[in-house]
Amino acid sequence: MRISVVGGGYVGLVSSVCLAELEHSIKLIEVDENKVKAINSGIPPIYEKGLDEHLLLHAGRDLYATNSYEDLASSDLTLICVGTPAGKDGSADLSIVESASVSIGKALRRKEDYHVVAVKSTVPPGTTESLVMSEVLRHSCKSINEIGFAMNPEFLREGLALQDFMRPDRIVIGSSDERAGDIVESSYKGIDAPVLRTGITAAEMIKYASNSFLATKISFSNEIGNICKKLGVDVYEVMRGVGMDHRISPHFLNAGVGFGGSCFPKDVSALIRLAENMDLDPILLKSVLEVNDRQPTKIVELLIKRKGDIKGNRVAILGLAFKNDTDDVRESRAELVIKELVRRGASIAAYDPKANASMQKRIPDIEYCESASDALTDADACLVLTEWPEFGELDKEFDLMRSRVIIDGRRVLSCKNSEGICW
Ligand SMILES: NC(=O)c1ccc[n+]([C@@H]2O[C@H](COP(=O)([O-])OP(=O)(O)OC[C@H]3O[C@@H](n4cnc5c(N)ncnc54)[C@H](O)[C@@H]3O)[C@@H](O)[C@H]2O)c1
Repeated sequence: MRISVVGGGYVGLVSSVCLAELEHSIKLIEVDENKVKAINSGIPPIYEKGLDEHLLLHAGRDLYATNSYEDLASSDLTLICVGTPAGKDGSADLSIVESASVSIGKALRRKEDYHVVAVKSTVPPGTTESLVMSEVLRHSCKSINEIGFAMNPEFLREGLALQDFMRPDRIVIGSSDERAGDIVESSYKGIDAPVLRTGITAAEMIKYASNSFLATKISFSNEIGNICKKLGVDVYEVMRGVGMDHRISPHFLNAGVGFGGSCFPKDVSALIRLAENMDLDPILLKSVLEVNDRQPTKIVELLIKRKGDIKGNRVAILGLAFKNDTDDVRESRAELVIKELVRRGASIAAYDPKANASMQKRIPDIEYCESASDALTDADACLVLTEWPEFGELDKEFDLMRSRVIIDGRRVLSCKNSEGICW
């Protein structure tokens, strides 16, 4: 199948590479000229495990990137994978989805055969029909009989994105009619996973409900962790026992410094705004964000409790990415913690195996180190904020510190004398 993918970020690029693996021919439309060049020369503009070798196999063969919508009409299916960041009031900012829909509509004016537009971006329930469908049909001057629409939410996790795309728990396809849904489903031929066919709005809501539920599990574990710390009980032992109940499952029960990333914070926040706009008061979802916002403050408070005034202290920050195995620092807890420590007069020596460069764009004026040892040298304290497995191997490197105050926000350390945020 000839597939055009609009947006070459984490979701768009990973989807393009995986769909090329499934023997489709991919045209990737991306506005950022530097990303287009990098992709066409086989170099991923983002870090994602395995992406480099797989992109190299397909770039210039069955995967071409371009910044023009010109060739979109020669595909059979278009996947919208552009960003839906949080707007100022916390609702989803749909301006990129809107401008992409306008461009897709204009490009489809010349198309003679049936075409399907599917949304993979996470969009609030109602968006595909009220915004994407209406803009595409208006600008293409076509009817719903000539262009079909679908919502096909993406559930991949950064760090495990290729594996999650190729071996998903489920494929959800909400469509305007059966024909549109069938075409989206056939693009997944070769992937062994249950397919759930729904209405478009239900598919949009499945994505928001899934992310909100996972975020709720994390905030719940953090709340239990904060109580456990006061009780002197190990929250990891507790949650191991809790997660053995098959109704609960052991996943996403890790207490720590909270969730970040480009999805959970903005998606929970967008769902809250959506509910409020319908005169509902989603108190549970609001608490999920409130607990999450408090965890970074807690790790700073713990540090102050141990060190007193931290003005002039050198604090080693291990981990900047919002999770391990990615260079993505969007909504990373590290950014909040670093800004608070700088405000209190500490100097920061930061190290992340992959995310130094992305954090440097957001916080340029702190020290970025080439290794954990460099960051720890002469440090007055150390905070661990990302669960990179290599931090679990650190041991004698902590002897390089001026004073051995080590606070683990992710339960990754195995060295002696570290204190956990909730344990
Ligand atoms: N990152 C994830 O782990 C993940 C997982 C599931 C779902 N999602 C959802 O998928 C969507 C995309 O997320 P992402 O992380 O890939 O975002 P991203 O910001 O990494 O990528 C979006 C890309 O779209 C490009 N773009 C912007 N405007 C464009 C336009 N008009 N035409 C073509 N390209 C354009 C940008 O330059 C960027 O490269 C979001 O709605 C997100 O919530 C993300």
